[in-house]
Amino acid sequence: MTGTPEEKSLKGLFIRTYGCQMNVYDSERIRDVLRPLGYAPVEAPEAADLVVVNTCHIREKATEKVYSELGQLKRMKEASGGRMTIAVAGCVAQAEGEELIRRQPAVDLVLGPQAYHKLPEMIARASRAIGDRLETEFDTIEKFDALPKTREADGPTAFVSVQEGCDKFCTFCVVPYTRGAEISRRVDDIVFETRSLASQGVREITLLGQNVNAFHGPAPVIEGGDDWTLGQLCRHLSKIGGIERIRYTTSHPRDMDDDLISAHGDTPALMPFLHLPVQSGSDRILKAMNRGHTADHYRDIIARVRQARPDIAIASDFIIGFPGESDADFEATMQLVRDIGYAIAYSFKYSSRPGTPAAEMHGHLSEVVKDERLQALQGLLREQQTEFNASQIGKSLPVLVTGKGRNPGQMHGRSPYLQAVHFEGPESLNGKIVDVKVVGASLNSLTGELMRVREAVL
Ligand code: 5AD
Ligand code: SF4
Repeated sequence: MTGTPEEKSLKGLFIRTYGCQMNVYDSERIRDVLRPLGYAPVEAPEAADLVVVNTCHIREKATEKVYSELGQLKRMKEASGGRMTIAVAGCVAQAEGEELIRRQPAVDLVLGPQAYHKLPEMIARASRAIGDRLETEFDTIEKFDALPKTREADGPTAFVSVQEGCDKFCTFCVVPYTRGAEISRRVDDIVFETRSLASQGVREITLLGQNVNAFHGPAPVIEGGDDWTLGQLCRHLSKIGGIERIRYTTSHPRDMDDDLISAHGDTPALMPFLHLPVQSGSDRILKAMNRGHTADHYRDIIARVRQARPDIAIASDFIIGFPGESDADFEATMQLVRDIGYAIAYSFKYSSRPGTPAAEMHGHLSEVVKDERLQALQGLLREQQTEFNASQIGKSLPVLVTGKGRNPGQMHGRSPYLQAVHFEGPESLNGKIVDVKVVGASLNSLTGELMRVREAVL
């Protein structure tokens, strides 16, 4: 006899995730969908019966990585005697569809971001070699409804999807094509999932959406049944026992409404960190990008958010080298960065994406110019990030402990401003909120001394 039926039917699952936090969340949900079929995570792709590559299409480099990874998996599949099933999920799957199977025939299944719940059915079909190997229909409502309602928590922090898709059509971006139109999840479902996470020890949730502040999900009938905004949702979720911290990402300046701004002032659980991408500081470029706002409009939003919550840390994304970007346009971006003062920011060289309007525009810049500008911008952003981290020295911060640190006896956690914090402390603190006095700071993290364990979460 060789073990229980469960053990006998266990199959190895390896998921490789590229790209944004939405993909990280989707990979978790893929794991949830496959668990009832007997799939359990394994450490390396070689040991897996099913490998899922969850892909990103946002820049050319991200897409290239997928094909090189698939080349490696093909060799592993051959070495396994063909036992391994290879599934490609995410935005490259959506954008390339059948082309993916043509370019890499070792791929067994291709499924877009709205089709994860159909994965069990697709695997069954593939094993009998019947039917479609491709599922790239847009069916977000069906996806929201079909995914398992409960989640298995993995530590004290968790993502909760509240919105998907994007109707903004920035001229450089593939997301509206790969993720489809904006759609919000029902408040009831979000509350159910959050409660289930809280009961497993989750203290901090990050509400996720491609345009998360465009959220307008239907409220429960008992609450009137109207569509709620993100501000209303945050206030409601902050009342769930155990949920001490709420974050949301990623937002668009056009959807930063007054109610959400005031929620930052009246909802202590809403963490003082706002990722509000601006992309450029030049009005001419913002217009060509179809962002729907000016640089001053953005400055005004940040000023109002800071009025509501003076200590709020601001983050952004930037694209440099958009077609037609002049020295003066780039300087306007640098000036905006100086004016705002960022805690952290992500900056990218413009990457031309097939099918987007910007790809057809005149005035594409050379890599040399793009490299120069990127270095100048990143230099300034690094200075600001270092300065922001150093400004915490001497303060006592509430830190959510998220795990063991690199050195023995060390733990790490998250500050309210989303900084990584390292300090000496016992493992029993994992999942708790503790006060840490900050004694050191670098570009990417803080070090501190444990002061006190907060009663509320003991
Ligand atoms: N080229 C470079 N960066 C891009 N982004 C989106 N599309 C492109 C592109 N074509 C960046 C934006 C966005 C982030 C997720 O990726 O800054 O906010
Ligand atoms: Fe892309 Fe613009 Fe939508 Fe963000 S708002 S996902 S950059 S189209």
